[in-house]
Amino acid sequence: MLEKFTAPIGTALDRFIAQKQEQFPFATGELSQLLRDIALAAKIINREINRAGLSGIEGSVGEENVQGENQQKLDVVADVRFIRALIKGEQTCGIISEEDENLIDTKNPKAKYVVAIDPLDGSSNINVNVSVGTIFSIYRRRTSLNTPPTLEDMLQPGRDQIAAGYVLYGSSTMLVYSTGYGVNGFTYEPSLGEFFLSHPNIKMKENGEIYSFNDGLYYQTSEGIRNFIEHCRKNQYSGRYIGSLVSDFHRNMLKGGMYLYPATKKHTQGKLRLMYECNALAFLAEQAGGMAFSDKERILDIMPESLHQRVPLFIGSKNMVKQCLQLLNEEG
Ligand code: AHG
Ligand code: MN
Ligand code: MN
Ligand code: MN
Repeated sequence: MLEKFTAPIGTALDRFIAQKQEQFPFATGELSQLLRDIALAAKIINREINRAGLSGIEGSVGEENVQGENQQKLDVVADVRFIRALIKGEQTCGIISEEDENLIDTKNPKAKYVVAIDPLDGSSNINVNVSVGTIFSIYRRRTSLNTPPTLEDMLQPGRDQIAAGYVLYGSSTMLVYSTGYGVNGFTYEPSLGEFFLSHPNIKMKENGEIYSFNDGLYYQTSEGIRNFIEHCRKNQYSGRYIGSLVSDFHRNMLKGGMYLYPATKKHTQGKLRLMYECNALAFLAEQAGGMAFSDKERILDIMPESLHQRVPLFIGSKNMVKQCLQLLNEEG
C-alpha cells in the first residue's frame, strides 16, 4: 500500500501530478494526462463563468434537459467545453454528462478511461453570482480497447472510481481531487493560469456542527429526516445551504458538517444524480475520513441501473451521518 502522497504547499498542479506518477513505476502517464485535460477544462469554464455577465451567456436556453430542468446557457457552454477538452486530450473513450441523454462516444477507442461529469453544478445560482462547480468521476473502461464504449463501461459502482474530484468557482477557484491516496486541494492563480497546492491531505472532522438541507422540503420528507433536523436545531448546529452541492460539500469538508438531500414527495428517489454528483463526492468524503450513504447503502456500493439515476444522499462528517441514519432506522 502506497503512503499518502504529500507535497509542499505551493507545488504547481502539473508538478504534483508528475511527482505522483513517479511513485508508480508501471504508470503509463495516461491518467496524468487525463487529469491535466480536466484542469484545462476547468480553466476554460472558469473563464466563461467569470465573464458570463458581459458575454451574454447568462440566462436560460429556453429548453429542458433530460432531467426535466430548465437548462441554463452556461450549463450548455460548460458541457461543450468540457467534452471538447476530453476529446482533444484523447485519454477518454466515453463520457456521460448531466446535460446529455446518452453516452457520448469520443471516437478515441484506444483510450482506457471513461468519465462522468456534471459540467456545471448549482445552475440556479449562475445568474445571481453565487458559487457554482463542476464534478467529475473517472473509471477504467471495462470493454476491450479499440471497441466503441458501451453502457457496461459507464455503469460501474462508485467504489471502482480511479479518481474523482470537483472544481469550485468561488471567491477563488479551486480544484479538489483524489486518486485514492487522500484528497488534495489546489487554488487557481489567474495571473499565472495555474493551480497550486493549497490544501494538502484534507481531512473531515468526525463531529460536524453544520447541517445543509433545503428547509423548504421539511414537510415533504419522512419522520426520520424531520427528527434529524430537530436534532440539529436542538444542538444549535448552524444551518447552511447554498444550493450548489459542490459549495455546500466543500464547506462541510473543510469545517465539518453534513449535507442531506433525502427522498421527498416530489423527488421520490432523491434529487441528486448517482453517476455524476453523488459518486465523486462520496469518493472524496471517504478519502477524507467522512461518510456517504443513501437510505440504507453506502453510496459507493450502489450498482447503477441507468445513467441519470437519482438517489437520496447523506454525506459529510462520519458521526453526523451515522446519527442521521440511526434516526432513519428508528422511524416508525
Ligand atoms: P445542477 O445545477 O447540476 O442541476 O445541480 C443542482 C443540485 C445541487 O447543486 C444542489 O445542491 C441541489 O440541486 C439543490 O436543489 P434544491 O434547489 O431542490 O434545494
Ligand atoms: Mn449538479
Ligand atoms: Mn449541473
Ligand atoms: Mn441541472
